[in-house]
Amino acid sequence: MSILGKLAYLAQWQFRAWTGRRAPLQSVIFISDKCNLRCKHCSVYAIDRPRTKTLQQIREELEDCYKAGARFVDFEGGELYLWRDGDKDINDVIDTAHETGFWSVTITTNGQLPFNGSHADQIWVSMDGIGDKHDEIRGKGTFKRLEENIRKYAEEGATHTDRAICGQGKGSCRKADVSVNMVINKLNYSCLEETLEYVKQSKYIKSISLNFHTPFSETEELFLEPETRNRLIDTIIKYKKRGYPIMNTYSGLKMMKMHDGVTACGNESCWVTNFIFSDGSRSPKCMGYTHNVCDRCGFSMGGEMYAVMHLRPDTLAGGLKLRLKSL
Ligand SMILES: C[S@@+](CC[C@H](N)C(=O)[O-])C[C@H]1O[C@@H](n2cnc3c(N)ncnc32)[C@H](O)[C@@H]1O
Repeated sequence: MSILGKLAYLAQWQFRAWTGRRAPLQSVIFISDKCNLRCKHCSVYAIDRPRTKTLQQIREELEDCYKAGARFVDFEGGELYLWRDGDKDINDVIDTAHETGFWSVTITTNGQLPFNGSHADQIWVSMDGIGDKHDEIRGKGTFKRLEENIRKYAEEGATHTDRAICGQGKGSCRKADVSVNMVINKLNYSCLEETLEYVKQSKYIKSISLNFHTPFSETEELFLEPETRNRLIDTIIKYKKRGYPIMNTYSGLKMMKMHDGVTACGNESCWVTNFIFSDGSRSPKCMGYTHNVCDRCGFSMGGEMYAVMHLRPDTLAGGLKLRLKSL
């Protein structure tokens, strides 16, 4: 589809959304809950009997999401770089998404294994602070490995133009940007400004997305008091104004603030993304909805989607810029 065709699709989707016809534009598909880390804030990994989908199952899920209207997909885990189906790996999953027709494929990794030569259009690496702070949450030595794998990807990784896939209409022909996903919680909030500084100084990292801890069961103790969260959001806005590469929009950040113990965005617009979990179960909204924690949601996407639906110009422009880049 041409860029004009894609823009027309987006405009039509937005018009339908405003007139009450809801369809996902983005899908999040968990391909496995097998992980090589046991992060303190996370409850997605399975310890005993991890579930891993086959490529065929993922293909069917992709087709269903595409038919429902989604054109952007984000693969989640578990750790994607552990995923295998015979001789197939995560790049085969990404290629399948491109073949299905998805315009842009995003992956999120903990960066403990090399991701050189990734076929993704956008790579998110989870960084929950700097050095020991990150290690305290994710395990000893994880920050050093993460740093090294980001450097290797940037300096040694093959570009898309080296790939057979490039130019065949299956994916973009550029090396994907690496951005950082930070989840701010009770253990690392004091490290926020240092992390923003680190990302700004890094020649390998494009931007940072800031999220707050969402209190899924058995991780409640890491949830930040609303006053602290609101104060940190003001700090983030201050840094963004100073030109730090913060992906969240101003409006999206404001929507993440908490008033009377509840986030401003609630779960109102989360239907923009549908979810398929590792066990194959499906939800028209994120797992916060299925776990009944939307009132304390910390995912930046909640605020951003709400701001889009409420026509906040900066979020509309930010979303379009991000989308256009991947068209
Ligand atoms: C579940 S992980 C899976 C991908 C990969 N293994 C990783 O660590 O990035 C995906 C993202 O969810 C975030 N996450 C996990 N638990 C969370 C929570 N309770 N609240 C907010 N984000 C969370 C992680 O920090 C990570 O950035």
